[in-house]
Amino acid sequence: MNIQWDAEKYTADFSFVHQYGSGVAELIDGERGAKVLDLGCGNGALSKALRDRGYVVTGLDASKELLEIARTNYPDIPFIQGDATDFSLPEPVDVVFSNAVLHWIDREWQGALLRCVYRALRDRGQFVFEMGGCGNNRLIHAALAEAFARRGYPYQMPFYFPTIGEYAGLLEAAGFQVRCAVLFDRPTELKGEAGMEDWIRMFVKTPFSIIEGEAERAELIRQAAERLRGALYKNGRWYADYVRLRMKAVKA
Ligand code: BEZ
Repeated sequence: MNIQWDAEKYTADFSFVHQYGSGVAELIDGERGAKVLDLGCGNGALSKALRDRGYVVTGLDASKELLEIARTNYPDIPFIQGDATDFSLPEPVDVVFSNAVLHWIDREWQGALLRCVYRALRDRGQFVFEMGGCGNNRLIHAALAEAFARRGYPYQMPFYFPTIGEYAGLLEAAGFQVRCAVLFDRPTELKGEAGMEDWIRMFVKTPFSIIEGEAERAELIRQAAERLRGALYKNGRWYADYVRLRMKAVKA
């Protein structure tokens, strides 16, 4: 995952990402004082929510821009810059928590990530996470693929959205025991009349790297959003067709 975030817009307009993350934290079975790593902590909003639940939290993220916001907003939480597929901690933690991060990592790097998580946990430690699951943003990516194809460009799907069975297999291969898994729809309201175009601009970056010129990119995004209007614009509001995969696994 190597993405340049518009950290301020992300924090201002896409706060639903960490708001929904609070529900994932309920899967943690931990006492006050348990040590938790927030893997892919972004702007630190969920690290703070975890700290407010009484956990001793460290955040880890690759983005310098988002970490700057996290450190400014929550100066009493330690945040470290690091790669989710290649990190180690000085001491094991009780819980690794992660929200809306794992789908950014290609399928072939998931094993490396799970090895790092396994190594970072104490024995019987928990890995609790939510990510985009099979079918996530299916309509959005189909509309983008169609708009790309109409102009003769290939559309390379930039995310990994596994099924329960597929990800459970990866977890077991890495030495975890799966304790809980659920895949569910969560249509998510976007902000404002340009909500869908803003969402695409914020989150879908790499497929656009082959397209030269801002005007053509903007036209492509506009066409994709128009295509989606019938399915994802309701009563004056845009919705993204999110599907979540929420899991809890224990270091066996
Ligand atoms: C998600 O949380 O499912 C997601 C967010 C941005 C891009 C792709 C997926």
